[in-house]
Amino acid sequence: MAGTVVVTGAAKGIGAACAAAFVDAGWSVVAVDRDAHALEAACAPFGNAAFAVAGDVSERRTNDTAVRQAVERFGRLDAVVGNAGVNLPKLIDDTSDAEFDRLVAVNIKALFYLAQTAHRALAGSRGCFTIIASKTGLVAQRNSPVYVATKGAAVQLARALALDWAPEGIRVNAVCPGIVDTPMLREFVDALPNPERAWSEHELAQPLGRLATPAEIAAAVLFLSSAAASFITGVALPVDGGFTAE
Ligand SMILES: NC(=O)c1ccc[n+]([C@@H]2O[C@H](COP(=O)([O-])OP(=O)(O)OC[C@H]3O[C@@H](n4cnc5c(N)ncnc54)[C@H](O)[C@@H]3O)[C@@H](O)[C@H]2O)c1
Repeated sequence: MAGTVVVTGAAKGIGAACAAAFVDAGWSVVAVDRDAHALEAACAPFGNAAFAVAGDVSERRTNDTAVRQAVERFGRLDAVVGNAGVNLPKLIDDTSDAEFDRLVAVNIKALFYLAQTAHRALAGSRGCFTIIASKTGLVAQRNSPVYVATKGAAVQLARALALDWAPEGIRVNAVCPGIVDTPMLREFVDALPNPERAWSEHELAQPLGRLATPAEIAAAVLFLSSAAASFITGVALPVDGGFTAE
């Protein structure tokens, strides 16, 4: 089954890989990102299969525009991927009010806007909503308490929406990536005192002995959005090379 999907944070990393996977599978994609330049570059190879919406997902109107464009340009909305997110590798004592508010606005409040604005169209298509949370939504990690808290909230938002929307036939799931080789991760590792050592320590800490590629996360999202997953709702699916099995 191919349809129309909205993907947020689609200019880079996991979101860009999701957009590419959906286009490859024959879907039309409304790709959303605050980085207008990178978004145009990411969408260029997709031609008419993608439409770019530049904007910040922490603003309600960005989410409204994305859903409206899906329906107006492609006639329907079958799936939504709430992927845009930001990291904050800081201890609680070092975190400012503004940093806390920004993290909650992008990692959680944006999902609230996206879910509200997509609800009616998804009910019409009996579609699905997938949230990119994190393994840190399932198990905690050191040095990022606010990030971890937002990802725990994202997992629970997916489960709660799954229950509320099940009578309308809308499926809602969370995907919980382990450590994925994306610009977000590279920025984080590059800021550490010995990036090369940190990179190989990250790899060795994974049971599969390596990091995930963005395409491996996108494959799980595409599966959850497809008819093959028609009885799967309310799950938080780790795609983490075995990390949370330990
Ligand atoms: N990389 C990892 O190891 C990892 C692990 C677990 C979960 N995640 C989650 O996956 C998601 C994607 O992460 P990534 O590693 O691909 O990140 P990334 O930084 O490489 O890419 C994120 C994209 O989202 C966009 N974006 C960020 N804030 C935005 C906003 N307010 N409005 C619109 N666009 C915005 C960025 O411009 C960028 O294009 C995030 O929610 C992240 O928390 C990542």
